[in-house]
Amino acid sequence: MYDAPKLNLSKSMAEFANGKTCTPGGVLGIRRPYNFVEGEYPIYFESGKGGRVTDIDGNEYIDYLCAYGPIIIGHREEEVDNAVIEQMRDKGFCFSLTQSIQNRLAEKLRSLIKCAEMSVFVKTGSDATTLATRVARGYTGRNKIMRCGYHGWHDWCVEVKGGVPAKLYEDVHEFHYNHLEQLEELMKQYGDQTAAIIVTPIGHPLAEQVEYPRPGFLEGVRALADKYGALLIFDEIRTGFRVHIGGAQTLLGVTPDLATFGKAMANGYPIGACVGKAQFMKKIEKEVFVSSTFFPNSLEFAAALKTLEILERDNVLEVIKKKGEWFNGELEKVLAKHKVSTGISPVPQMPFIVFNKDETKTYKAKRVDFYTQLIRRKVFLQPYHHGYIAYRHSDEDLKFTINAIDEALSFIDEKKY
Ligand SMILES: Cc1ncc(COP(=O)(O)O)c(C=O)c1O
Repeated sequence: MYDAPKLNLSKSMAEFANGKTCTPGGVLGIRRPYNFVEGEYPIYFESGKGGRVTDIDGNEYIDYLCAYGPIIIGHREEEVDNAVIEQMRDKGFCFSLTQSIQNRLAEKLRSLIKCAEMSVFVKTGSDATTLATRVARGYTGRNKIMRCGYHGWHDWCVEVKGGVPAKLYEDVHEFHYNHLEQLEELMKQYGDQTAAIIVTPIGHPLAEQVEYPRPGFLEGVRALADKYGALLIFDEIRTGFRVHIGGAQTLLGVTPDLATFGKAMANGYPIGACVGKAQFMKKIEKEVFVSSTFFPNSLEFAAALKTLEILERDNVLEVIKKKGEWFNGELEKVLAKHKVSTGISPVPQMPFIVFNKDETKTYKAKRVDFYTQLIRRKVFLQPYHHGYIAYRHSDEDLKFTINAIDEALSFIDEKKY
């Protein structure tokens, strides 16, 4: 049983002690140590390049979390960074009026994404989902939202409710991915008050397996929205510019009324987009308000245009898919060799190994040991969140990772729980 040596994380730990004195919790939300394996994972990264990241103690990892999704090509991708630098150096990016590059990006989205007749650019995914629900409420004159998935940190959908008055989310009802009957039930009760159904087109709930839609699920959601006169919103913050250049809506063949994008759109630069059919988006001309000092800043537009150009030019998403399919194929073979009961994500772009619950509840300890052994081998995967394959992950990176997974599972096989 080979127990890989613990990493030297002394600088991360010392900095974390400092961090807790000046930022509540030291670092925010999903980046807090309890979302990994406490004491085993680094807390601060120093730099990244391609498919790798380096922590402040100098440990270098193959990075499969990709900043929770924005890194689609790789870290510090020169062509994208240069497009941003040129915009900054030659034109500037923060003005009292809008730069026309905004139109180039909106036109680009219109050419790629079925429902994107019009776009509004914001800075985060939460901005985009909040705007989409506001458009739906403005258009329909109704209040209720049916939701499925994580949609960000704003008042209407934040999972931890502290500091949020109940009246701000009491018109929001949840259903589970692939459970059309739950949505049917909700719509029977509230359909005539429902402004929108918002759903991630691929299911990716925290700590649970990633799921494709069952046959008829998304079509059924579409039909329910139509039946009750509600708008259908696809939250494509994770799937957008990752599973297909036209979004999961193109891959899966169901077109929503509105959709939200972010994360991978600009290879790490902060941008979100609420897009949709003109008939609905035009509500933003008058009745529905959106504006923010930094929304029209153009660095992210330059980054997004360059990222999309590279995605198309180099067939990046097809390459990522192939890498992911190879990875999943090898993973299946490795998992079959070992005793521990696990499941893998069926979505090749979003790899994830989930430890199946067992009666003795040892799966939790096994999960901790597994991810401990992986991080000690410099493979950065998150225990409770699916990972991502980036274009810059090399074949050697993937092979190394498969081997590390094999070793980590052997460790668990041989240990007594
Ligand atoms: C599906 C989905 N929607 C919305 C969001 C919120 O995006 P952001 O964190 O950029 O505000 C996220 C973030 O992880 C997400 O995964």
